[in-house]
Amino acid sequence: MTAIRKTQVAIIGAGPAGLLLSHLLFKAGISSIVLERQTREHVEGRIRAGVLEWGSVEILREAGLSARMDKQGLVHDGFELAFHDLRHRIDLRGLVGKGVMIYGQTELTKDLMEQRHEDGGELIFSVGNISIENPENGKPRLRYGINDDQQEIECDAIAGCDGFHGIARQSMPKDVLKTYERVYPFGWLGLLTDTPPALEELIYANHDRGFALCSMRSKTRSRYYIQCAVDDHAENWSDERFWKELKNRLNAEIASRIVTGPSIEKSIAPLRSFVAEPMQYRNLFLAGDAAHIVPPTGAKGLNLAIADVAVLSKALHESFNKGKPTLLERYSETCLRRVWKVERFSWYLSKVMHQFPDNDLFEKKMQQAEFEYMMQSESASRAIAENYVGLALEL
Ligand code: APR
Ligand code: PHB
Repeated sequence: MTAIRKTQVAIIGAGPAGLLLSHLLFKAGISSIVLERQTREHVEGRIRAGVLEWGSVEILREAGLSARMDKQGLVHDGFELAFHDLRHRIDLRGLVGKGVMIYGQTELTKDLMEQRHEDGGELIFSVGNISIENPENGKPRLRYGINDDQQEIECDAIAGCDGFHGIARQSMPKDVLKTYERVYPFGWLGLLTDTPPALEELIYANHDRGFALCSMRSKTRSRYYIQCAVDDHAENWSDERFWKELKNRLNAEIASRIVTGPSIEKSIAPLRSFVAEPMQYRNLFLAGDAAHIVPPTGAKGLNLAIADVAVLSKALHESFNKGKPTLLERYSETCLRRVWKVERFSWYLSKVMHQFPDNDLFEKKMQQAEFEYMMQSESASRAIAENYVGLALEL
């Protein structure tokens, strides 16, 4: 017979969205079970982005999750944009009074896993074939397979934190769900290496040969990216070829500071903008990549996931613990107002900073004019800074 477990919130996916949600719910006295398709080692080993908005830093601090981040993270007060030979620093601190925290998503995921284990949180890995039953009245159920066994969870709400390819969004009726998408005609080839970063801050560069980004994980570990064809393969890129191409896309002064070394990881990610509306259906709530994707140019993917679960945990707390369902009923609209603005910023920065294969000379001139305007106008730079450190979370 199938065993039926009970919990208040069943969470699908142990990425940053699912893990942080289960932690925030625990702090609010709400029980949850997290179901993850992969193994713990797989989830902890994934290399992802590494820039936290200041609002994300504050949420993590308030949730008691910041001990290692505050010790090992790097606070950056600005970053640089380069356009061919032009260079422009966005002085985040000077323009908007805040910075960002450089701390890898991989590290944050490990911190979240550890905290959940310490607090006795229930995380079930390597589950298969999850299916959702979400009746209008009555309790939703999740069915899943583990070790050749079928199990069921009965709950009050389901959180779909299972990323872009997960099943939660796909379980919503087709006539309820509307999706918006833009797929970009290029990818990012990333390389991780244990060498000191080129400069103290991040540099995003647009060059005739394509976009390049100099980023970092710590003072001894760097992360670099170059724009590549969507159908390219990481195996086509020896470390030597990568370093040569990266330097070709940076001005001589920056290129001369790059410390090359063997790669620890190399992979290609496609670029996509995507939004699903609404982010809720009955007792099913989507959060993070399950609901929206941004191209990585603004470093917003992780931050959007953190913002969603901050709203969702508060809404569940108000509803379950205080009998006030309004915020939960408005979860989708509350999140989407901000999501669309963050989509806009990520799309805008991607548009200005990449070489688009179909761009004609007019489009190229527009990119250049945009960049020069940014350089001469403090207001334009401030608009970038305001978005980069993170828009306010409106609850
Ligand atoms: N059943 C169980 N787990 C699933 C299923 C499924 N059917 N499908 C996907 N998952 C798991 C994935 O294995 C993954 O661990 O859901 C998790 C989703 O995690 P992420 O992809 O990391 O997404 P999210 O938590 O929303 O984090 C936001 O920010 O920097 C960006 O895309 C980057 O991961 C990042 C994201
Ligand atoms: C990264 O360090 O991986 C990174 C930084 C900034 C971005 C995207 C990725 O915009």
